[in-house]
Amino acid sequence: MFVRILPPEVRSRIAAGEVIESPADVVKELIENSLDAKATKVEVEISKGGKRLILVRDNGTGIHPEDLEKVIEEGATSKIESEKDLMNLSSYGFRGEALHSIASVSRMRIRSRFFQEREGYEIEVEGGKIVSKRKVGMPVGTEVEVSDLFFNLPARRKFLRREDTERRRIASLIREYAIVNPGVGFTLFSNAREVLSLRPADEVERIEDLFGSGFERIRKEIGFLKVRAYIRRNVPQGELHTFINSRPVSMRGLKDFLRKVLGYKTFGVIFIELPPFMVDFNIHPKKREAKFVKERKILSLLREALGGREEEPMPYLEQEVPRYETEFKVIGQINNTIILAQRGDYLYFFDQHLISERANYESLGEKEGADEIACRSAIKSGEKLSEKEMKELIEVWKNLKNPHVCPHGRPIYYRLHLKEIYDKLGRSF
Ligand SMILES: Nc1ncnc2c1ncn2[C@@H]1O[C@H](COP(=O)(O)OP(=O)(O)OP(=O)(O)O)[C@@H](O)[C@H]1O
Ligand SMILES: [Mg+2]
Repeated sequence: MFVRILPPEVRSRIAAGEVIESPADVVKELIENSLDAKATKVEVEISKGGKRLILVRDNGTGIHPEDLEKVIEEGATSKIESEKDLMNLSSYGFRGEALHSIASVSRMRIRSRFFQEREGYEIEVEGGKIVSKRKVGMPVGTEVEVSDLFFNLPARRKFLRREDTERRRIASLIREYAIVNPGVGFTLFSNAREVLSLRPADEVERIEDLFGSGFERIRKEIGFLKVRAYIRRNVPQGELHTFINSRPVSMRGLKDFLRKVLGYKTFGVIFIELPPFMVDFNIHPKKREAKFVKERKILSLLREALGGREEEPMPYLEQEVPRYETEFKVIGQINNTIILAQRGDYLYFFDQHLISERANYESLGEKEGADEIACRSAIKSGEKLSEKEMKELIEVWKNLKNPHVCPHGRPIYYRLHLKEIYDKLGRSF
């Protein structure tokens, strides 16, 4: 056998198979681009389940006329500049390969009017080659039309599913993006019939528009993790919609874990937010899965946030706080709610209610309903405390098994290094 270097268009077609396997994959990439362009309206049209035609129209910022021909080139992106930016992603796109891939396996027409321009431009592309370019009158935004997907890869075309299977996949994909972009209106037309229409809404309305009302709501922030969940328990068949940093994800491991925490007969929409550097989406060709940095920690925080019992004190804060270095000096009480004290170079702000609640909770043990009893019998906020009482409460805090968060996951205290205050005052510390 002789080694040969494949021509670039063949390589593109092969590589495209990683990202684009079906009409739904095309729709996903085009919708993501519309959302990245800040569209508030996304219209999708398909015919024959997207096998004959897919059209996505948005009212986003549009593409600058000078960029229009570039967007179908490999690695053409306006969203990141260097590898470093991958650590701080806020857009769906970052590879600059989606349009290139789609273009190489279809006939494509892109029309776009940039928001600062008076007219739009249109290019036609066939199998990755631009065959025409001209001016067109159109509103600001972008319209991408993809027809005859895989016309130049007959083997792959044969493997496309039946029309209604593809149509269903496209509809559920649009719903996923709609859940996590409630402010955007979405419509889907299939064979010129409207099959989905979602008006711009807020998160709750959008979820109710899609799934009806009657959800238990959870909203938690623990350390670096934020979770919002909408939950209905004891449904005949469980179903979870999971999102990480505004991206729909389908991760087996994560879903199995959440099912265990929430129960198998739970319907749930779960939004997980983490600092971008803790999540790597670049491990998956379609970005449908992510790798967590510090996965065990994240899962244990998730369990805590979603109501699973805490198994151990949160290790992530523990190393940070040298617990018995020097004594506390009580400075006073703020709004009869927060105890202010100094220890070493730190100012501590304690939530008096939460210290007391945590202490009750720990003395009650892991009994059913312990958190409620702990809360009811605790010192309230708004209660005036004497200096002696404040000192006692801080002593109690020092002996807590978990001095960091209350039974519901709220932080018990906040501390500030004096240097921060010195810096603000322009003094050196
Ligand atoms: N609907 C749109 N509105 C405005 N600009 C768009 C639109 N679609 C594509 N673009 C421009 O074309 C570029 C290429 O799009 P493409 O989807 O190929 O790459 P990407 O979104 O940057 O990265 P990825 O491959 O990860 O999706 C984008 O970076 C963006 O500048
Ligand atoms: Mg993209």
